[in-house]
Amino acid sequence: MHWVVTGANRGIGLAIVKKLLEMGEDVTVGIRTSMPFEHPKLKVLTVDMSNPVSIDEFANRIDKKVDVLINNAGILIEEKFPEVTEEGMILSFKVNTMGPYFLIQSLYKLGKFVPGAKIANISSILGSITNTGGTASYPYSISKAALNMVTKLLAHKLKEYFVVSIHPGWVRTDMGGPNAPLTPEESAEGIIRVVRTLNETGVFLDYTGRRIEW
Ligand SMILES: NC(=O)c1ccc[n+]([C@@H]2O[C@H](COP(=O)([O-])OP(=O)(O)OC[C@H]3O[C@@H](n4cnc5c(N)ncnc54)[C@H](OP(=O)(O)O)[C@@H]3O)[C@@H](O)[C@H]2O)c1
Repeated sequence: MHWVVTGANRGIGLAIVKKLLEMGEDVTVGIRTSMPFEHPKLKVLTVDMSNPVSIDEFANRIDKKVDVLINNAGILIEEKFPEVTEEGMILSFKVNTMGPYFLIQSLYKLGKFVPGAKIANISSILGSITNTGGTASYPYSISKAALNMVTKLLAHKLKEYFVVSIHPGWVRTDMGGPNAPLTPEESAEGIIRVVRTLNETGVFLDYTGRRIEW
């Protein structure tokens, strides 16, 4: 299978790519900088997920049909009420919401998804409206809740594909911090298992496959 993963140069995305390559899968990554290694089954492309023009160019340069898209790139700008800035809100929305949406739209218009393709938007429990309590960041929670709407709308529209939101757990990455209970490898293995065994669309799951309320 051919997997496309964004934000794959570090954190959860990097762990997903390493695991997929160990499994013998073909992988294309979309990153801003460079990968820490090369591999014969890995194609490295650049993309800035905050820029729809860059996203279009990235989609155009993907040269194989896409079986799985993992929209993993994301940012956490730690701003809380009453100190949220316009910049923090806009950048969060661009990277966490618009970026995944436009990548799906570009790939769709180019006819690059195989029938039955799986699209996983890496969301967060912090974007669950039902579970809303505190948050690390208002722009983050708001943009991930909006990403969940992207998932729902496109699951409804693209009946021939599976479109889901996945919460990766609280993971020890630059974003998750050193106190998080999960390693990137544990989260990545879970996400890959959930995607491979997916048999429903328009759902919000965690990395173990458990349903999360929107
Ligand atoms: N860690 C957690 O506990 C946790 C919990 C819930 C959800 N998540 C979600 O899981 C996903 C991965 O998180 P992580 O913990 O692995 O985060 P991370 O370690 O901070 O890595 C984020 C990745 O996203 C990329 N990225 C950010 N802005 C980008 C842009 N404009 N264009 C392209 N790539 C961009 C980064 O690339 P650069 O190196 O170029 O910045 C990096 O590869 C995110 O969507 C995050 O919201 C994480």
